Amino acid sequence: MTTRDERPFFATAAKGTEGALRDELRELRVPKIRADRGGVHFGGELGHAMRACLRSRIAMRVLWRVAEFDAGDPDALYDGAKSVDWSRWLDATRTLAVSANVKHGQMRHSGFVAQRIKDAVVDQLREQSGTRPDVDREDPDLRIVAHIARDRASLLVDLAGMPLSRRGYRTEAGQAPLRESLAAAILRLSGYRPGQALLDPMCGSGTLPIEAALWAQAVPPGGNRRFGFERWRCFDDSAVASWELERQRARDFAEPVATRVSGSDRDAQVLKMARANADRAAARVDFTCAAFADLPAQAPGTMIVTNPPYGVRLTTDERWNRDFARFLGRMRACTVVAITPNRSLAREVDIAPAREHTLFNGDLECRLFSWDVR
Ligand SMILES: C[S@@+](CC[C@H](N)C(=O)[O-])C[C@H]1O[C@@H](n2cnc3c(N)ncnc32)[C@H](O)[C@@H]1O
Repeated sequence: MTTRDERPFFATAAKGTEGALRDELRELRVPKIRADRGGVHFGGELGHAMRACLRSRIAMRVLWRVAEFDAGDPDALYDGAKSVDWSRWLDATRTLAVSANVKHGQMRHSGFVAQRIKDAVVDQLREQSGTRPDVDREDPDLRIVAHIARDRASLLVDLAGMPLSRRGYRTEAGQAPLRESLAAAILRLSGYRPGQALLDPMCGSGTLPIEAALWAQAVPPGGNRRFGFERWRCFDDSAVASWELERQRARDFAEPVATRVSGSDRDAQVLKMARANADRAAARVDFTCAAFADLPAQAPGTMIVTNPPYGVRLTTDERWNRDFARFLGRMRACTVVAITPNRSLAREVDIAPAREHTLFNGDLECRLFSWDVR
């Protein structure tokens, strides 16, 4: 495959974290970036997209737009999908899955749209070679994503394969764990940077401190997994060389920064999981079992970032709010950041936050409150 051509890519991110992803991709020297709803567009060589897969902590998927056409009815959709040369990615020994997202147009049913596109791909390959690839919804070699808005279709192929948030270390989790990529976005949005001491006083399975430690240790988030693009038919010698170069660059430019990262939780069982997750990730985190009300004041400048329990999945009560307000007051010269779907948390704890940012944890609209404690 020619790896030097410029191509249109889109890295997806949780809603409300697009700006954080844009800043991260800029630091990774990915060219032509533009934040949009749900992610960041960029234009570059295949190597840039591989770099985003390997080193972005915030992106959830990296998609390559391979076609765009009018699709006002099922035949136009089928013909447009069939005009793409799918043999670049697929042959009869490989598997595919198609998902679709449809809004404001003649065709309304995403399942039907995905089926038509799948038929076009499979028919094309059968006509070419006499055999067809199978569908595998769980673990396909090629994942095709279709977006149809106002009868205009975009077809994208997914470089990630499994979502980028699945780093592989978090095989154990307590209740309501944060996605790894969302935890990384929260850290960046909080203003945390490697070198700054970090504490999560309600760390659950440890996602926030583990992500902070891996960032400080300069461990590439995708260093321990395989990506979708490695299974494509066009992952040939030239693509392999680009991929090797990106992996080498990640090693060459890694600059670990000594950082004190800690996590605590009152639940000993969940802490056991957090320790096991940190061990699997080789993340250097100090864990303690304690209620946050019993934690000592932290060193000035410590960044305290946490994801408190909330009624949708866990419960909080008045006493908890009072304890949290006292805890805030004691953390002199620290910044305290909490992500919560409870918009009234700031009012309930009775201390006005210095900053507030809206972002989504899955479908759940949340606030990221930041308090600069004096
Ligand atoms: C939403 S979970 C955190 C999930 C975590 N971010 C993760 O990714 O796994 C909230 C955590 O707060 C802990 N918690 C609740 N009240 C606490 C308290 N007073 N002191 C310490 N931990 C507390 C719970 O045990 C639970 O593990």
